Amino acid sequence: MDQAESLRRMMSQQSGGEVRVIAVTSGKGGVGKTNVTSNIAILAAQTGKRVLIVDGDLGLANVEIVFGLTPRYHLGHLLDGTAELRQVLATGPEGVRVLPGGSGVRSLTVLDDAQKLRFMSALDTIEDEFDLVLIDTGAGIGDNVLFFVGGAQEALLVLTSEPTSLTDAYAAVKVLSLEGGVEHFNVLVNQVATEQQAREIYEKLCTVTRRFLKARLKLLGQLPRDENIHRAVLLQRPVVQAFPHSPASRALKAVADKLFTEPPPQSNVGGLKFLWQRLLRGGAGAGAVPPAP
Ligand SMILES: Nc1ncnc2c1ncn2[C@@H]1O[C@H](COP(=O)(O)OP(=O)(O)OP(=O)(O)O)[C@@H](O)[C@H]1O
Ligand SMILES: [Mg+2]
Repeated sequence: MDQAESLRRMMSQQSGGEVRVIAVTSGKGGVGKTNVTSNIAILAAQTGKRVLIVDGDLGLANVEIVFGLTPRYHLGHLLDGTAELRQVLATGPEGVRVLPGGSGVRSLTVLDDAQKLRFMSALDTIEDEFDLVLIDTGAGIGDNVLFFVGGAQEALLVLTSEPTSLTDAYAAVKVLSLEGGVEHFNVLVNQVATEQQAREIYEKLCTVTRRFLKARLKLLGQLPRDENIHRAVLLQRPVVQAFPHSPASRALKAVADKLFTEPPPQSNVGGLKFLWQRLLRGGAGAGAVPPAP
């Protein structure tokens, strides 16, 4: 075991080893990240997990919309000292807590190092209160995405069958693995008719990834195109609550079951506290792979 690996293990133990931090990301926008994040959060809460969603799509936050919340404060208030973390955290369905990302707030679209440190130190104070932290990232491969996915223990990559989505998913894997140190990606194919179709898209992503990168991919599952997702968004309710017997809800349950029953990848262990350490050393977010201690 090398020194970096020992530090990762040590930090995960110091953080209680309990909280699981999963960042949902995609490359291309509009592929279903926010819906996946919100519904998996609800399903996890229904099994008794204490769940926090960090809306990491800063400045264009959507989690509050799909939960029908109108939070008074957002992350920007926390970062500029206008509000305390406990005032900023909103409560969604099934008791899921939400750290809203703010809408139309340009100062949040690229967090500077001081803001990242403030965010990390705030989360540090509540990390033990949760079993699961889901981070809904924005589209693209910008600095905030790198920060959130690089700091999470696991990445859940969402893509669809469109060639543009596949290309952007590969671009995200490339940047997140080479610059963010993310080694393992759970892949979820959205808006496909069959498992076979999902597997074919996944295999295409694997082929190009294997050729050029060290990152490891795993197919988590697929979701069908289902109008009920759209109907639920209009109702501002998660589909697993609004239409629990719909094809989308059944598929989301299968995905959540697999995510929570199979052991999480050990390769990305470290989580928020590890990121915190990296930040203090001036590494993470700038895209550096963590230096050996
Ligand atoms: N499986 C699906 N079937 C039908 N519609 C879907 C499905 N998944 C997502 N959608 C629709 O696609 C749109 C985009 O979904 P969502 O907001 O979750 O994507 P996103 O990846 O978070 O987007 P952004 O990159 O803008 O944050 C929504 O209008 C949603 O209703
Ligand atoms: Mg979104």
